[in-house]
Amino acid sequence: MVEKRAVRQAYDEMARAYDAARTRDGRGLSVLESFLEFGPERVLDAGCGGGQPVLDRLDDAATAVGLDASGEQLRLAADRVPGAALAAGDMTRLPFADDTFDAVVAYWSLIHVPLAEHGTAIEAFARVLRPGGRVLVCEGREEWVGENPDWLDSGVGMAWEIAGLEATRAQLRAAGFTLAREWGVPDSLDDSEADAWVFLEGRLDGA
Ligand SMILES: C[S@@+](CC[C@H](N)C(=O)[O-])C[C@H]1O[C@@H](n2cnc3c(N)ncnc32)[C@H](O)[C@@H]1O
Repeated sequence: MVEKRAVRQAYDEMARAYDAARTRDGRGLSVLESFLEFGPERVLDAGCGGGQPVLDRLDDAATAVGLDASGEQLRLAADRVPGAALAAGDMTRLPFADDTFDAVVAYWSLIHVPLAEHGTAIEAFARVLRPGGRVLVCEGREEWVGENPDWLDSGVGMAWEIAGLEATRAQLRAAGFTLAREWGVPDSLDDSEADAWVFLEGRLDGA
């Protein structure tokens, strides 16, 4: 089961191990290109990690803000993406005013939030988006809660709570999003299974 403080501490300890294993291109990035075609000017990367490759690409395309729970991940992001603004925080309690962003993306980060708080995080994404804003979230296809005591051979344990596709669609709808596109993508660390994960795009009504 996910304990948020433990996840934050784990990423503090293994930020460099994750960064070394993280793919820099691939399907997740081409999904981002499609998502960005509507031309958002202000974009939040919720759970930005060390900033490569997602926050870096957002910084090229827009005014980008990265938020993460882990101070060590944010230190990496500050080095890698000096143009982006960074904030420490929890995506279930976003430290931004209503209607701040045109887009929010969450690449492999919502999956570390306790299941009971996934809906809260998605509601927070809706709150900080302006009318007509769009969200892009990564989720697993099926619900799964589990841990790895030695993730990426780092000696550090990690935990996940994956809500699954149906639950995430329902949470997006409940937060006011209209479901738009979905893309199957391989893992950010291992591309052996082509559509192991799903990215869901939600759109808010409005100008
Ligand atoms: C698997 S990494 C993904 C990082 C980056 N988005 C990427 O695509 O590589 C998950 C990130 O989510 C962050 N995270 C986990 N729970 C969080 C929470 N409740 N609020 C904000 N960030 C969180 C972690 O600290 C970590 O940096």
